[in-house]
Amino acid sequence: MIKTFSSRSGRLSETNKFYLYKKSKCIFSEKKLITCKQKVLDVGFGDSESFCKDVLENDDFFFFGAEPYKKGFSRAVEFFEKNNIENMILFNGDVRDLLEKVKFSFDFIRIHFPDPWPKKKHMKRRLVTKEFLIYLSNKLSNNGLIQIITDSQNYQDHLKEEIKLQNKLSLSIKLFPVTFTESSFYKKALIKENKIKEFVLEKSS
Ligand SMILES: C[S@@+](CC[C@H](N)C(=O)[O-])C[C@H]1O[C@@H](n2cnc3c(N)ncnc32)[C@H](O)[C@@H]1O
Repeated sequence: MIKTFSSRSGRLSETNKFYLYKKSKCIFSEKKLITCKQKVLDVGFGDSESFCKDVLENDDFFFFGAEPYKKGFSRAVEFFEKNNIENMILFNGDVRDLLEKVKFSFDFIRIHFPDPWPKKKHMKRRLVTKEFLIYLSNKLSNNGLIQIITDSQNYQDHLKEEIKLQNKLSLSIKLFPVTFTESSFYKKALIKENKIKEFVLEKSS
């Protein structure tokens, strides 16, 4: 499996380390049964700041967040522990490893600002490929939606190509119902005046 993220762990404070290793109830386990609410998967929630706000603001949904970046992950655990959160499960690692373990399907999957890997020699590290889209389609409920947001023109072109190369998912005009606050990547894109594009995908009929 090609690695799609950098190995940065960020400088971990003692508090970060405490929450990173805490046996918190929010840590993913195959034994946990989640029966209620619509399930959302957030792929790569980064520093977790906007993700945590979204979890609070969308309490009709149950969020699963996968992030290998240890500092962001530990901050999300801290948020869970301090705020009496009931709609969040976290996985510290590659989302593809999480998807191998889950037995259910997700109603909504979102990928905000996937690492662009703009250099030609790194392009193979991009997470969203036709293979990944096909794989995600098997983990998506029948009426489910996938949202991908990026400000990288290069990645937008790449996505259009990868979407064309498979037939399990198609572009949708439906509204992705989970709201989101501006993340640091979103804000950076606004400052750079980059065009932020949203792709919404549904299962092909
Ligand atoms: C550019 S950041 C965007 C973070 C966040 N979504 C946002 O909008 O601020 C991309 C994130 O995706 C994560 N990522 C990359 N590959 C991943 C994978 N295979 N599984 C889970 N997360 C991944 C990276 O660690 C990084 O934190």
